[in-house]
Amino acid sequence: MTEIAFLLNGTQIRLGAEPPTRTLLDWLRETRGLTGTKEGCNEGDCGACTVMVTDETGVRALNACILFLPQLHGKAVRTVEGLTGPQGQMHPVQETMVAHHGSQCGFCTPGFIMSMAAAHLTGRRDHDDVLAGNLCRCTGYAPIIRAAEAAETLPAPDWVKDDPAILSRQISSGGEAAGLGGQTAPLHPQSSGELAALYAQMPDATLIAGATDVGLWVTKQLRDLAPVIFLNGVTDLQQIEVAGDTIRIGAGVTVEDLRLAMQDRHPALAAMLRRFASVQVRNAATIGGNIANGSPIGDGPPALIAMGATLHLRRGEDRRSMPLESFFLDYRKQDRLPGEFVEAITIPASAPALRIYKLSKRFDQDISAVCGGFNLTVADGVVTGARIAFGGMAGIPKRAAAAEAALLGRPFTLDTVQAAAAAMAGDFTPLTDMRASAAYRMQAAQNMLIRYFHDLNGVAVDVLEVSA
Ligand SMILES: Cc1cc2nc3c(=O)[nH]c(=O)nc-3n(C[C@H](O)[C@H](O)[C@H](O)COP(=O)(O)OP(=O)(O)OC[C@H]3O[C@@H](n4cnc5c(N)ncnc54)[C@H](O)[C@@H]3O)c2cc1C
Ligand code: FES
Ligand code: FES
Repeated sequence: MTEIAFLLNGTQIRLGAEPPTRTLLDWLRETRGLTGTKEGCNEGDCGACTVMVTDETGVRALNACILFLPQLHGKAVRTVEGLTGPQGQMHPVQETMVAHHGSQCGFCTPGFIMSMAAAHLTGRRDHDDVLAGNLCRCTGYAPIIRAAEAAETLPAPDWVKDDPAILSRQISSGGEAAGLGGQTAPLHPQSSGELAALYAQMPDATLIAGATDVGLWVTKQLRDLAPVIFLNGVTDLQQIEVAGDTIRIGAGVTVEDLRLAMQDRHPALAAMLRRFASVQVRNAATIGGNIANGSPIGDGPPALIAMGATLHLRRGEDRRSMPLESFFLDYRKQDRLPGEFVEAITIPASAPALRIYKLSKRFDQDISAVCGGFNLTVADGVVTGARIAFGGMAGIPKRAAAAEAALLGRPFTLDTVQAAAAAMAGDFTPLTDMRASAAYRMQAAQNMLIRYFHDLNGVAVDVLEVSA
C-alpha cells in the first residue's frame, strides 16, 4: 500500500508496508509495545482500547480496535503512554482518578483515562455521556465520575495541548503526509470527485468510512476486504449545509457531528443520537455508513424516513435521488448500483412534531430492539400529514403505512391513535431474536404511537423526565 503518516505521542510515524485493514490496536500492541491500550471486546463495545485522535477539526476519543491505520493519515494519535508529561508527570485526570479511587483492575482504566482526557481538553462536562462507552464492572461509576468532575478546573497540560501545533508543523492540514510530494494515495481519495472516479473503476472495492460496521467484519469475521477505498480524506462529504428550508448532510458527516448540529434544529433527532452507540463510536461512525449498511436495526433510517429525508446517490458523474425509504428493498438489499455511493441526504430544516423513541435493553450504548420515528402534521385538530417509520420491525427500516392511513384525515384524538396502533398489526411481522420477541416488538411499537400522542399533548414521556 502507499505510505501513510501520522503522529504517535508527538513523534512522526511513516508506514508503507502495513495491510490497509490492520487495526491501530493490533499495531500499537504488536509492533510498538504500547500495551497500555487494552483489547477487551475488539468490537467497539467496551472502550478499553480508547485513544485520543487530533486533526484540524479537533480532538476526539476513538476505539483503536476498530480503527484501521489508513484512517489515521494526517492525524495525531495519543495513547495512554503519551498522556504523562516528559518528566513522567501525571495528567490531571490521572491524578484525580488516583485521588478518588476510580481504578481497581487497571484493565479498563486506560480507556477511561483517555476518554476523560479528551473530554478534559474540549471542556465537556457531560461525564455520564462521555463515559457511556467505557465499561467498568468492579469500581462502579461514582468514583470515576467524581474524578472527572474534580479534574474539570485543572488546566490541560502543554504536552497534550501541543498536538495540533505539532501536527500543522509536521503534517499538512489537508491530511496528506508532508514529503509525499502532494501525491494522493489511490485508495485514499481526497474529494468526492476522486472517489466517484475511483469507485466507478473499482466497483468491487469495499468503501470504508468510519469502520464501525466494517471494522467488525475484520476483527470478528476475519474477512479480507481488499481492495478497499477509505473515505476519511473526502472532506467535501463531511459538510452540513442549510439552504432555505432544507438541510443537506454529507454522507461522511459523523454521527457525533450530526448530533451536535441538530441540537437546536431537530432536538428529537439529537436526543436519539445521544443514545446511538457511544462517544467513541459516534466520533467515527458516519451517517452515510449507517444508511448504506442497510441494517434493519440501524437508528438513522427510521428517524430520517419519518423526517421525509431524500437520499442522494452518485456513480461517476451520474447522480440520482430518491425518498430514503425506497432505498431499502429487502433484508440487506439496497437500491445501489455497482460503483455507486451515498453522497448526501437532505432533510427539512424544521419538523416540530418529530419524535424518535429508541427502545433497547441498556439505555446507553446498545442496539435498538425497536426504534420508531413519528412525524405528524395536525391542522385544526385533524391529521393532515403522517410519517411513521420503524427499525427493528421488519427486514428493512420501513414505514407503517396502515397506521399512517388510519390517522390521515381523522381528528387527532386518543381514539384515532389507538385505532392506528391497532392497524399497525397489519404493517409488520417482526422477528423474535435475542433483543426482543415478536409480540414484544409489536406491542412496543404500538405503545410508542400512544406515547407520541401523549408527548405531543405535553405529557412527560421520557425516562429522563418521568420521576416517581
Ligand atoms: C459498539 C457499536 C455500537 C453501535 N451502536 C449503534 C447504534 O446504537 N445504532 C446504530 O444505528 N448503529 C450502531 N452501530 C453500527 C455503526 O456504528 C453504524 O451503522 C455506523 O453509522 C456505520 O458508519 P461507518 O461510517 O462506521 O460505516 P462503515 O463501517 O465504514 O461502513 C458501513 C457500510 O457502509 C458502506 N459505506 C460507508 N460509507 C458509504 C458511502 N458513502 N456510500 C456507500 N457505501 C458506504 C461500507 O462499504 C459498508 O458496507 C454500532 C456499532 C458499534 C461497533
Ligand atoms: S477493545 Fe473493546 S472497544 Fe475496543
Ligand atoms: S476498574 Fe477495571 S473493570 Fe472496573
